[in-house]
Amino acid sequence: MPETTPGADAAAPPLIELDHASQVFHVKGKDIPAVSDVSLSVNAGEVLCLVGESGSGKTTAARLAAGLASPTDGAVRYRGMDLAAMTRQQRQEYRRDVQYIHQDPYASLNPIRSIRSTLAIPLRRHGMASGRAEVDATVDELLTRVDLTPPESYSAKFPHQLSGGQRQRVAVARGLTLAPKLLIADESTSMLDVSIRVGLLNMLTRLRLEQNVGFIYITHDLALAKYFGWQGRTAVMYLGKIVEQGPTPQVINNPQHPYTKALLEAVPEPDPDLARTKRSGAGLRSAEVPDLSALPPGCSFEPRCPLAQDRCRTQTPTLAPSPGVAGHDVSCLVVADRTAAQVAAGGSGSSAPAPEASDEGPGASPAGPGASAAGPAAPATAGGSP
Ligand SMILES: Nc1ncnc2c1ncn2[C@@H]1O[C@H](COP(=O)(O)OP(=O)(O)O)[C@@H](O)[C@H]1O
Ligand code: SF4
Ligand SMILES: [Mg+2]
Repeated sequence: MPETTPGADAAAPPLIELDHASQVFHVKGKDIPAVSDVSLSVNAGEVLCLVGESGSGKTTAARLAAGLASPTDGAVRYRGMDLAAMTRQQRQEYRRDVQYIHQDPYASLNPIRSIRSTLAIPLRRHGMASGRAEVDATVDELLTRVDLTPPESYSAKFPHQLSGGQRQRVAVARGLTLAPKLLIADESTSMLDVSIRVGLLNMLTRLRLEQNVGFIYITHDLALAKYFGWQGRTAVMYLGKIVEQGPTPQVINNPQHPYTKALLEAVPEPDPDLARTKRSGAGLRSAEVPDLSALPPGCSFEPRCPLAQDRCRTQTPTLAPSPGVAGHDVSCLVVADRTAAQVAAGGSGSSAPAPEASDEGPGASPAGPGASAAGPAAPATAGGSP
């Protein structure tokens, strides 16, 4: 299964790149490091899933990538151009090419604008369609693509007349209006019924494969990351930092960081047989997430970590390659030691062989609900974080 996709040019700079980017908010005299020293990149046609509990910094990182906020440290680059140093024209191009689909569609849709008008304004403004007939036809096509059919039943409505799931689909349709090169989808499918969600994710996958659109797909639900991002990469965030990242099959089937293991434990398993055989032992010591403004010294996962040692309270782990699989990085002192010991003993450093990505992509007909350990199946859960 190709990890990068058709048209990705190895020599070209990534579509989007966060380079040691941080975002610290200052609230009532306190520093809130919502994103700390995060580096990530997405090429054309690639998908990067950002996963983690609520409050882990996913939306803040996505807003940095979308240029909706500037990093307090580090840089964000679009096709190699630093956002902070772009010309007006480059910025306009970037604004058109990179679309952010808001986590809360109700907040992002203008309540006094009909759905038609919501979609028509960017189409006209950027010259994607002109004249009433062409605009109407394009609006209808966009609504049909997101399964709001027949489109004429929706185009005259206003946001408050739609359900949460329908509003999410309007937000996705608006993200598609300008034929983006990078879509940042922030929990954009979380309110949808399973069949609608699968249809939408399959449509987005077609965009990726056929039009080489890159994706940052944000979810707290690893079952969704598995389904949509199986051919790409997954980065797990905890308290503003990436604690594990790698090819999605590797992160899901061979997780190394105790936090990733705990997130996977929390994915509901609808098959009772699989549920009984599910890995155990990743139980957290505490469900409580430390306050970002008063992070514990050393490893910030220490208060919850089932593997924590004394040194974890003073030493801060950094993302380090797990040599078994290219591009699989983990930020954990214990995992780093284990890896080093395995390498010294002549092993690969990876505790299990790298799983092959299934040939059955997200566009394949869903075999069943839930996220089994073997490969991507249609995500049934609305998700639950631990
Ligand atoms: N504008 C802001 N001002 C202050 N704190 C913020 C702001 N935006 C986000 N935060 C804080 O940053 C942390 C990360 O938030 P967020 O990026 O929304 O996480 P996620 O999307 O993973 O749920 C949270 O603790 C949140 O309260
Ligand atoms: S460094 Fe220590 S506390 Fe942090 S994840 Fe690893 S074992 Fe747990
Ligand atoms: Mg969020």
